Amino acid sequence: MASKIAPLLMRTAVVRSGCRASSSRVVQNRAFSVAAARQSDVLMVHRNTPDNNPNLPFKFTPENEAIITEILKRYPPQYKKAAVMPILDLGQRQHGFTSISVMNEVARILEMPPMRVYEVASFYTMYNRTPVGKFHVQACTTTPCQLGGCGSDAIVKAIKENLGIKQGETTADGLFTFIEVECLGACVNAPMVQINDEYYEDLTPETTKSLLDALKASVGDASKAPKPGVQGGGRDTCENSKGITCLTSEPWGVETTRADL
Ligand code: FES
Repeated sequence: MASKIAPLLMRTAVVRSGCRASSSRVVQNRAFSVAAARQSDVLMVHRNTPDNNPNLPFKFTPENEAIITEILKRYPPQYKKAAVMPILDLGQRQHGFTSISVMNEVARILEMPPMRVYEVASFYTMYNRTPVGKFHVQACTTTPCQLGGCGSDAIVKAIKENLGIKQGETTADGLFTFIEVECLGACVNAPMVQINDEYYEDLTPETTKSLLDALKASVGDASKAPKPGVQGGGRDTCENSKGITCLTSEPWGVETTRADL
């Protein structure tokens, strides 16, 4: 069916575009696209750059080599490639991002074809295959964060205004990289952001800006680093802000399931 319709559609498109050239009447046609959007390339393509090419050497530090030895003890020797994810993560933490040299070194250690390591690193978005700033700001914009509290649109706007960058960019001083991400599993504290390994939750535009300012100040003075977790709003963690509304009576004894027995 599809193969019968496709030539008809193509003919229609050609005829209509011919009409448009010869007529002053405006015809709204959508162009056929045969190639993926260019932006998607970034997810699966490596291009050599001065700071990310296979000629740049990468070796794990002695401390991390000791950790790798420990990780490898969890797997039978013939399945040591199963350790690819934690060792890639270790490489990213040491180097700052998962460069091609990090991936090649992991492949060498685990005796895997490098392509198998590239496949893992390009599938999981937590592996940053291009450099990121000292603070990697990931704003959740999935539905619960979009609808919860002030909504993630307001948080994204506050981040862009405070940092002066757009999604996918890094500040000129190399301090912040900002991206939008899907659900980070803390929907009950929406809206929230993840910065490096920490979650900052129950955000408002004001607390978001204070948070970013505190991170900037913490570069010269670690004591100014903001506390992760809930950022105001009257909650300690993820408890109901209206207090306990169920399971308020005395619990039955552990041995009793029916009061009449
Ligand atoms: S939707 Fe944002 S943490 Fe789940």
